[in-house]
Amino acid sequence: MELHNLLLERADGIATITVNRPDKLNALDHATLEELRAAFAEVARDPAVGVVILTGAGAKSFVAGADIGELSRLDVLGAREFSRHGQAVLDQVERCPKPVLAAVNGFALGGGCELAMAAHVRLASANARFGQPEVNLGVIPGFGGTQRLARLVGPGRALAMVLTGDALTAEEAFQAGLVQKVLPTVEELREEARKVARTILARGPLAVHLALQAVQRGLEMPLAQGLQYESEVFALGFASADAREGLAAFLDKRRPEFKGE
Ligand code: COA
Repeated sequence: MELHNLLLERADGIATITVNRPDKLNALDHATLEELRAAFAEVARDPAVGVVILTGAGAKSFVAGADIGELSRLDVLGAREFSRHGQAVLDQVERCPKPVLAAVNGFALGGGCELAMAAHVRLASANARFGQPEVNLGVIPGFGGTQRLARLVGPGRALAMVLTGDALTAEEAFQAGLVQKVLPTVEELREEARKVARTILARGPLAVHLALQAVQRGLEMPLAQGLQYESEVFALGFASADAREGLAAFLDKRRPEFKGE
């Protein structure tokens, strides 16, 4: 699929997906959502990609929400379809088998906050703002914002955001646990995202993949079932040459050489 509203760059094991509609503050219209779907399918199956960085073009906005022009034309059934479509695309982001780091470089409002929450780790620049402002428009979040936010920050904080529509600063988002690190500038944010990506790439690729699965799938299960799943995935890891190598390298006091097998 030809990409018009996204940039997809691949280098040194890192795929960078940049939402690129700067004149609309990178708002997600239908076409952009479809491109996100295609880009994530592409990086998921590319063996040369180990980590994905998801960000917005420019230094002002990550994604300023779903496209309000499109929203304004929806009827009831169209709205349900719109919501299911956005949810499916964001589910695909969350289910990406490679770690997805959101580098939140400004406004992450509505669908932008929801997209960032579908990523596995969130880093932000100090100018980032996280909010679910839908009630200002007389509607509610529809791409997972009423569900993932409460799971990430707890129901009280999530409801305060969803009911008032007020945005959190990057620092407040950090305090709430929504963001894992805040960098002073967008440039430093992009550098930090690459640094975290390189750190992950240096680890055992199979272990990274299995750990991601265990955490992500486990979140969907009751604890006892999640623990059982963890044991199965833990055991599976011991079938890999990487596990033998990683454990032996520690005992031999040398650096491991992982092969991803
Ligand atoms: N959908 C469609 N277009 C959007 C958009 C969105 N979610 N967010 C911003 N834009 C467009 C604006 O309409 C404007 O387009 P124009 O130049 O053709 O008029 C352009 O992006 C720049 O936005 P502008 O509002 O002029 O920038 P600002 O710096 O004054 O304000 C925001 C920035 C983010 C505070 C403001 O754009 C905003 O409130 N956006 C909507 C956020 C929202 O409610 N998102 C949830 C949607 S469900």
